[in-house]
Amino acid sequence: MSDSAALPAIPARLQRFESLAYGLFLHWGLYSVHAVGEWRWQHRKIPRESYLDAFGRFDARDFDARALVRQAKAAGFRYICLTTRHHEGFSLFDTRGLNTFDAPHSPAKRDLVREFSDACEAEGMGKFFYHTTIDWWHPDFDAPGRWENYLQYLNDSVAVLAKNYGRVDGFWFDGNWWRKDRDWKEEALYEVVRRHQPDAIIVNNSSVGALGQVAHPMVDIATFEQGAPEAIVGLSERYLARERCETFNSHWGTSALDYSMKSPAEIIRILCECRRFGANLLLNVGPDAGGRLPVYESAALELIGRWIRTGGEAIYEGRPAAVLCRRDDFVLQGGGAYHYFAHELEITDNVHLHRGEPGRGLRTIQGPLPAIRSVAWSDTGEELVFQQDVARGLLTFDATAHGYGEQRVVRIARLKPAS
Ligand code: GLC
Repeated sequence: MSDSAALPAIPARLQRFESLAYGLFLHWGLYSVHAVGEWRWQHRKIPRESYLDAFGRFDARDFDARALVRQAKAAGFRYICLTTRHHEGFSLFDTRGLNTFDAPHSPAKRDLVREFSDACEAEGMGKFFYHTTIDWWHPDFDAPGRWENYLQYLNDSVAVLAKNYGRVDGFWFDGNWWRKDRDWKEEALYEVVRRHQPDAIIVNNSSVGALGQVAHPMVDIATFEQGAPEAIVGLSERYLARERCETFNSHWGTSALDYSMKSPAEIIRILCECRRFGANLLLNVGPDAGGRLPVYESAALELIGRWIRTGGEAIYEGRPAAVLCRRDDFVLQGGGAYHYFAHELEITDNVHLHRGEPGRGLRTIQGPLPAIRSVAWSDTGEELVFQQDVARGLLTFDATAHGYGEQRVVRIARLKPAS
């Protein structure tokens, strides 16, 4: 083996990004008025006029950016990614003369990205701007010979966002996968970002058919749309962060006829699986037409936030440790400790729910660990019995079952090193 192969350095801004861990994705636009997801215009081939009727009805009457950001913060999110413009071409921001197809010219009469941006700054929330690269509304997008003009419009739009809203933590592009034959000239777009926001994270979604595909050398993150963030595809000498984006139900934009909401338990498991691979979870909720989060999602987010708090810093600061555990269990390392994520714990005290099986609570970690002084549940502080053979790289602890009256889905045990 060559001596020259070394782990790539992790740039500071990617380290910061990884500590954000859990982000809220907000898909909100004219499609929210139709309430049938965000692809209706394309999928149903409905006439321009009847789709754009939503423009005259978009009033953002319930959008309270400060309240929304506070709600997200209380639920454990450390960043929010807002669709400043989605594929329908409507902008939530003031395009400053590029066109009048924006929120200030709609009945909302407000620059909603300004409000969002100010609220993120006031609450110390990470601020990410989603921006589409495709555009069903813009006349140049599909017009022969007008491609360069469209790209100019795209870059100018992104420049408006990059110049006028203070510090932006990241730009989240999406859409190149829909028109693979086009010459996207990505570099020019990313240069607009870099010029005005030297520290911003650049994302360009590779989409569902291409999980973890490394696109352009200026992109910072491998995306995993609705898939486990396991393998990054393609060779890169750089370190790439990972992010899984996930829907709460089966759409990104709100849908009045979608009953497939995930449960808090499912989302907790997905979040854990992301962190197992060192990835962030960007969880989407589609606000309603007025700009408020739906009641069911709000309640679920609040519960998940409570769970996150019991895990403490492990979720945000923990990074994958090179050890082996059974099935879905894994260990993260961070904040001067190791954190064991225990899945499938039993509930005892009630034979109708789960019959206790002797020994089933024992969990073993195989691999190099320093001498451990104590093992305790992070949520209650309860100390757990453990045995360790440092030389053989084995540690076993008794993962006590849940008493009847609790079911925490995944529990985190903190392993404190002796020194
Ligand atoms: C998919 C959807 C798009 C959505 C994106 C978010 O690409 O087609 O509408 O914005 O996922 O990741």
